[in-house]
Amino acid sequence: MSAVRADAAPALRPLRESDLDAVMAIENRAYPFPWTRGIFRDCLQAGYPAWLLLEGDAVSGYAIISLAVGEVHVLNICVAPERQGRGLGRFLLRALLKHARDRKAERVFLEVRPSNPGAKALYESEGFNEIGRRPRYYPARDGREDAIVMAMELVDGEVERMPPL
Ligand SMILES: CC(C)(COP(=O)(O)OP(=O)(O)OC[C@H]1O[C@@H](n2cnc3c(N)ncnc32)[C@H](O)[C@@H]1OP(=O)(O)O)[C@@H](O)C(=O)NCCC(=O)NCCS
Repeated sequence: MSAVRADAAPALRPLRESDLDAVMAIENRAYPFPWTRGIFRDCLQAGYPAWLLLEGDAVSGYAIISLAVGEVHVLNICVAPERQGRGLGRFLLRALLKHARDRKAERVFLEVRPSNPGAKALYESEGFNEIGRRPRYYPARDGREDAIVMAMELVDGEVERMPPL
């Protein structure tokens, strides 16, 4: 495993199928219940916006969203375990929120496990609110775990629709 370099600025480029070896190597270490390669492939073939996060040559993370009728759903946002806690998750999240705003999306949704308070804190700090729960949504070691559903209104769109004073 390469040493973590802090000198290369993080950069994003579109995620491609040829990146999936590197993505799976992170996915399998970052999640107790990782996505399969087939799920990533299906997302790419469906044309979902997806990014690879690079620091120099090193793959540090990735994110995938779906975007339809003004609504964005964050499907996967992940930073390599040895590179977490350095602002990269926030960098990824802000990049996909900008993508959503640029495409005039009005609302962003995501699900997070109650057992993932770090991710929930990140989403709250960027303006997401808990709007509900999906009972027993995720597989878990002891059976199933609820999903916390979070949402954020992209207020720029609301402001644009207001009539002039
Ligand atoms: C969730 C994840 C993307 C965050 O990425 P990261 O690069 O570690 O996060 P950042 O360094 O950008 O931290 C941003 C904020 O997240 C919160 N946070 C991140 N890790 C945390 C932890 N272990 N405990 C508490 N808060 C945490 C903090 O609010 C932090 O802000 P601060 O540094 O100003 O306190 C990353 O931990 C990850 O990939 N986890 C595994 C996959 C995953 O769970 N994805 C989310 C699925 S919903």
